[in-house]
Amino acid sequence: MIGLPDFPWDRLTPLKTLAQAHPDGIVDLSVGTPVDPVPAVVRQALADASDSPGYPLTYGTERLRSAAAGWLRRRHGVVLDQANVLPLIGSKEFVAWLPTLLGVGRGQRVVFPELAYPTYDVGARLAGAEPYATDGLFALGPEQVPLVWVNSPSNPSGKVLPAEHLRKVVSWAREHGAVVASDECYIELGWEEQPVSILHPDVCGGSHEGLLAVHSLSKRSNMAGYRAGFVAGDPALIQRLLEVRKHAGMLMPGPVQAAMAVALDDDEHAEEQRARYAARREVLRPALEAAGWRIEHSTAGLYLWASDGTDCWKQVRTLAEKGILVAPGDFYGKAGSAHVRIAVTASDERISAAVRRLQ
Ligand SMILES: Cc1ncc(COP(=O)(O)O)c(C=O)c1O
Repeated sequence: MIGLPDFPWDRLTPLKTLAQAHPDGIVDLSVGTPVDPVPAVVRQALADASDSPGYPLTYGTERLRSAAAGWLRRRHGVVLDQANVLPLIGSKEFVAWLPTLLGVGRGQRVVFPELAYPTYDVGARLAGAEPYATDGLFALGPEQVPLVWVNSPSNPSGKVLPAEHLRKVVSWAREHGAVVASDECYIELGWEEQPVSILHPDVCGGSHEGLLAVHSLSKRSNMAGYRAGFVAGDPALIQRLLEVRKHAGMLMPGPVQAAMAVALDDDEHAEEQRARYAARREVLRPALEAAGWRIEHSTAGLYLWASDGTDCWKQVRTLAEKGILVAPGDFYGKAGSAHVRIAVTASDERISAAVRRLQ
């Protein structure tokens, strides 16, 4: 068996039980799962495509790839041919399997941020490679690295990497023969700062060589339950990934492809969802600050990265005693041991309950 870390969420169970004991019920801000309805246009598209007896294509329909390329152009200033888009069964499977799909293995390092979504580490281990968390690429010296992950806006911290920073990552990677995979699943949720794609000409100078941008419909369109994402970028890498994914049966269901194309074409529902998150963030943030938490980074994305200066598990307990469940920062790396991650993915009613309890 492959050695994987314990599933960290199991460690939170006793504190979840504590929060659930609150007389007015738990406010669960520990996970970033959407709670608002799937947009009507998306549900209709799924229903209309439900008569789907045959196998879908791993490459997806041209309609879907064109919608993804159109969205990248319209919303993010990225110009790319629809041929260079590949559908994913949610972005998590891709994060977990990319090192394996690229043939990365024993004796090689997969690099990802010090504070990070845990699946980058898992993906390295599944491939038999060495997971390596660092924010300092230059400290790696002349070593050839096959794969570097970046994630902006960041889960958990909501930090945005400016174009200038990403440019340096791209030029370092090109010198070291590394593929840069940029996890951009929160890119539409910029608040005080606007995130930029690794594929934007200001970052990559117009060439997508060695670059992959990973996108998800889970947060933008409340489609986490549909499992819908895509990867776009370097034509040669996309074709290589397509070949392996065809053999491995990594195919997105046809009705989901149809629903995802409609979601990507429609900005209205995404704006409505953004406004919901903005309103929740606007009330929760000052309530946490007034209760003694300092908010760091968090200029984009779905989370408030907060600290009251004590150990993260102590903070989780303090909030659980008020019936509010949050995630301890050490789930995302040692660098998170003095922080908690607070998601704004709860209903308006539950967010108001949290605000009252913090007073
Ligand atoms: C940084 C990051 N990447 C990828 C994912 C996976 O998203 P999905 O598989 O729903 O597309 C998540 C989910 O929360 C995430 O936070």
